[in-house]
Amino acid sequence: MSETIHIKSARDIELMRQACKITAGARSIGRQAVKDGLTTRQIDKAVHEFIVKSGAVPSCLGYEGYPAATCISVNEEVIHGIPGRRIVRNGDIVSIDLCATYKGFVGDCAGTYACGEVSEEARRLMEVTRQAFFEGLRYAKAGNRIFDIGGAVQDYVESFGFSVVRDFVGHGIGRDMHEAPEVPNYRPSHGRRPNPRLVPGMTICIEPMVCAGDWHVDILRDGWTVVTVDRSLAAHYENTVLITDGEPEILTMAEDL
Ligand code: MF3
Ligand code: CO
Repeated sequence: MSETIHIKSARDIELMRQACKITAGARSIGRQAVKDGLTTRQIDKAVHEFIVKSGAVPSCLGYEGYPAATCISVNEEVIHGIPGRRIVRNGDIVSIDLCATYKGFVGDCAGTYACGEVSEEARRLMEVTRQAFFEGLRYAKAGNRIFDIGGAVQDYVESFGFSVVRDFVGHGIGRDMHEAPEVPNYRPSHGRRPNPRLVPGMTICIEPMVCAGDWHVDILRDGWTVVTVDRSLAAHYENTVLITDGEPEILTMAEDL
């Protein structure tokens, strides 16, 4: 990833808003498709069709060889699950992560949703993960530094006895899905990465990945699927956010968020 942080112009921001609106709509479609008996491939298909129908391109498809429009990660799968024949069942928690490119700009968002009735632990994990995003968002203001966001995410998550993934981080976004800077969901040890100041016109993805148990992860033999080593449940919540000279703007906002 290039180290250059691309500050978006007013025109860029308007196009980002459009790309992100489609992305958020696609997440809603995915959420509605989380039903007992459906395969993850069927969920992917519904999202893929929505993106194409909206005039956008599913940016994950073909990205570094990735084979689908969405990443669908069930239970102990954290991120990058490949949609396939796996059937979603009542009691599962299902993370859907997707990107859409529209008029040259990319939107990126994710969420974890329950299929039917889930355990008390699973429900709490999903709620804490979503709220962790909003705790981080409070620090997404011009003049603060990137690590202020992750520090808030980490403190909130750990106060519930859950843990934050270290091996994958949020990122800048714009014409490319992944731009500088990296946006960790934790407070890195001193001096480890650049910790730039937030500036109006930056667009970043804040995306807590939270484990019910330990934060260490493995990658399955398909080369993509990230799972918790202890096979504890995991959840993911992400939005694309614009830094302004006031409150941050959630670009991938939808009514059902
Ligand atoms: N949406 C993911 C992210 O936040 C990208 C998934 S990787 C891909 O980085 F290969 F599926 F594109
Ligand atoms: Co992302």
